Amino acid sequence: MAETQRHPFLHGLSKHRGAPPTVVVIFGASGDLTARKLIPAVYNLGFDNLLPADFYLVGYGRKPIPDDEFRALASDAIKEFSRRELNADVWSRLARRTSYVAGGYDEKPAFDKLAAHIDELERQIGRDVQRLFYISTPPSVFTPILLNLGASGLAAKHLGLPHHSKVIIEKPFGKDLASARALNETIRSVFEEHQVYRIDHYLGKETVQDLLVQRFANAIFEPLWNRNFIDSVQITVAEEVGVEKRGGYYEQSGCLRDMIQNHTMQLVALTAMEPPVSLDAESIRDEKVKLLKAIQPLALGPGGDVARAQYAAGMMGGKAAKGYLEEEGIAPQSATETFAAIRLSINNWRWQGVPFYLRSGKRMARRVSEIAINFKCPPGTLFAGSGRFDIAANTLSFQIQPDEGLSLILNTKVPGLDTRTQPVKMNFRYATTFGSNTPEAYERLVLDAMIGDGTLFIRGDEALASWQLYTPVLESWAAAGREGMDAYAAGSWGPATGDALLAKNGHVWRQP
Ligand code: BG6
Repeated sequence: MAETQRHPFLHGLSKHRGAPPTVVVIFGASGDLTARKLIPAVYNLGFDNLLPADFYLVGYGRKPIPDDEFRALASDAIKEFSRRELNADVWSRLARRTSYVAGGYDEKPAFDKLAAHIDELERQIGRDVQRLFYISTPPSVFTPILLNLGASGLAAKHLGLPHHSKVIIEKPFGKDLASARALNETIRSVFEEHQVYRIDHYLGKETVQDLLVQRFANAIFEPLWNRNFIDSVQITVAEEVGVEKRGGYYEQSGCLRDMIQNHTMQLVALTAMEPPVSLDAESIRDEKVKLLKAIQPLALGPGGDVARAQYAAGMMGGKAAKGYLEEEGIAPQSATETFAAIRLSINNWRWQGVPFYLRSGKRMARRVSEIAINFKCPPGTLFAGSGRFDIAANTLSFQIQPDEGLSLILNTKVPGLDTRTQPVKMNFRYATTFGSNTPEAYERLVLDAMIGDGTLFIRGDEALASWQLYTPVLESWAAAGREGMDAYAAGSWGPATGDALLAKNGHVWRQP
């Protein structure tokens, strides 16, 4: 089996300790993601002794920054954003191995300079290191970076040997089917698929990984996991934050591209896919692609399978909150959606007739991501009528965040001398059982890319299958402009059109 294709669940941490000598090069080193997520992730891996002894971090960006200044920026980022405080020993070990190279993204000589910098590191330690390139820039420069990694020989370095070059590509992976296809082609002109790690940070979340364990390691769930027992599935990815200072990006994106096409669809795929034949990366990704391909094209227009809306002024946590159109950097007549709801039909043996409802939005009532599996009601013969019996459908819900855990709604007899029933909730909480210092998604993902495990990354065909589904929706919305755009008050659970998607089948959104 390839170096890497085994899933860490099989092996535990000992496998992680085997990460080969590595240099991680971050393109976009002075960007927000680098400070908030990537530097803290590397630092915490260092804290946990999960970095190889020969580990180097190189920041790359257009802005000239002296090495010392880059190290100072990195330590500030750790102080501000790391889940652990800065530990002087851990940081000084890492700081000694941190440097910065300035250069344009479309300048081949700058990539030659980067190659020479890495060669020099190798010369100093007297051995080869694998090169892990992390593209964390705006998407407009993905292509020049990839092409220059090819032209400078960096992409092919050691290819075929266990410690070859690899590339991590941040989202967004294209903006529609055609652009994602073009990006895949550029990548493949330079890298082989096994060198490529397309990020969806939701896959790095503990609870998302736990979905496979819950489904396939517990004998009680899988026999019920189908259209005979499940009535509907609801996936909510709600955020309290608004568009913040990201208006420029968000206006080009919108909720469907930013959250649904990638993060939410990963939750759908892991919830609904067939059991993989093994836990290796390709088996899992094959099943996800099969599932995505079984989803029916979405009905567009009034009464169809999609709804979109923008947040209007409202109240968040007792304070007045602006509407989307009043936010900084947003066009006064913007047709960008901040909320989307989708009704999916999966046309396969397991799921035919079971609607999957998805919704995601900014400025919603509460930050919560959950997957709720609503089971069918029991036959109403025994507990019916008379008002004494409050019977709810059983619901199994995976709390992806916050309050990570799992809960199950069961019907129970209320204590007392007569027979009354009431639904109760059985809860499992990660923090209570395992403590609360869970690794961040990016820690897992950077480590997995280092050791070469692609399980928690998106394969090229997987990205295309999801774009295939949503590109017609994006095209129809672009053609309609603001027509059909609903509104919801900031701080609410979304617009009426989102509710109407469910009402058609007699369903309502669950209050998470
Ligand atoms: C990012 C989106 O991918 O995910 C953001 O671009 C969003 O708009 C973020 O806020 C949500 O991630 P998380 O981990 O906070 O749920």
